[in-house]
Amino acid sequence: MTEIWKVNRLYEGKAKVVFATEDQDLLLIHYKDSATAFDGKKKGVIEGKGVVNAEMSAVFFTLLRDAGVPNHFERLLNPGEMLVKRVKIVTFEVVVRNVVAGSLSNRLGLPEGTRLDSPVLEFYHKSDELGDPMINEYHIRALGLATMVELEEIARLAMKTNEVMRGFLNPRGIDLVDFKLEFGRYRGDIILGDEISPDTCRFWDTNSGERLDKDRFRRDLGGVEEAYREVLRRVAS
Ligand code: TMP
Repeated sequence: MTEIWKVNRLYEGKAKVVFATEDQDLLLIHYKDSATAFDGKKKGVIEGKGVVNAEMSAVFFTLLRDAGVPNHFERLLNPGEMLVKRVKIVTFEVVVRNVVAGSLSNRLGLPEGTRLDSPVLEFYHKSDELGDPMINEYHIRALGLATMVELEEIARLAMKTNEVMRGFLNPRGIDLVDFKLEFGRYRGDIILGDEISPDTCRFWDTNSGERLDKDRFRRDLGGVEEAYREVLRRVAS
């Protein structure tokens, strides 16, 4: 396999650094151990997170590609580094929920753990300053963030991702409570981007209900590193 060299740093975010490479079509993502919550107001480090999140994302992206959900993953490079297709990012986040938790619990006053009769799809405008406000299909179309056709494809791929991931995680003793996805445009198609990890999903142990995700960091529950490693152990086997 030919070496791919980083040529320059394009962007540094809260949890990753993105580099251009010698290949115009490919980017290199370096996943960091630093963690933030509440729109950057809470900061910390989760030891080993970058390596775990890159490896776990690789497992999920490979699973999803094989199940017909196109995504940006090309291959893992060094530990914590992933080569991906260069996409034009869609500027809103997509959340899928199976069980009430987090902001949905706060918004509707429903207890965390309440099962939803069918998956809920939500969209959020990416803005830390505004606290990532929720938007709907009408905002997306009125603001020109995506066409009707793109939006339908995003919804279809998000729901398919939910089905595939739930089917994979159930036998591994993990309940997929909710998760956040980001999409991009690549050669005229909508494909899945970003990462799929305990930073971006809520994973609850099926038997004990124990939280195996970033809520351990957000809520100061302890055992953060152990939870991330435990999920990787289960999904990699
Ligand atoms: P929420 O309940 O806080 O709205 O989060 C829903 C899901 O989205 C949860 O799995 C965590 C994930 N998420 C992110 O990946 N990034 C974010 O900035 C937020 C707020 C949530």
